[in-house]
Amino acid sequence: MPRSADIAAGLDDALVERMLEAARQARGRAHAPYSRFFVGAAALDEHGRIHGGCNVENAAYPLGGCAEALAIATLVMSGARQVRALLVVGDGPALVTPCGGCRQRLREFAGPDTPVIVASPAGVRARFTLEELLPQSFGPENLA
Ligand code: THU
Repeated sequence: MPRSADIAAGLDDALVERMLEAARQARGRAHAPYSRFFVGAAALDEHGRIHGGCNVENAAYPLGGCAEALAIATLVMSGARQVRALLVVGDGPALVTPCGGCRQRLREFAGPDTPVIVASPAGVRARFTLEELLPQSFGPENLA
């Protein structure tokens, strides 16, 4: 049964598969020599385009950036302004959900029903809405 947010995002199984592939490719470019934890992300914009990102660590540890942050920044740099869906791919037994900071980054460009899809390299593991991951959030409307 398709979710209403998926319909709004034009998100069907084939598109999720394309996002997964883009995130996997991005993950292959991760620069994670310190954590050895490689992450990829794919952000779907309002034009149906997919933007990838990987984590980029730094020898000065706090300067490292998340895959989601780069995918969102890449989407913005392309001229787009909406994230219609986000997929993140990482390995290990625990679900690799976006960190708190990236949930807030997403909040800037997405709505409460925006799908956030969590995957391992083998495939999709879980799905959330942004509202589920970041309830009662602060956002652009607060400053309007
Ligand atoms: N990381 C991400 O890129 N996205 C996530 O959702 C979780 C964590 C990165 C940050 C750091 O480079 C490494 O994974 C370990 O935390």
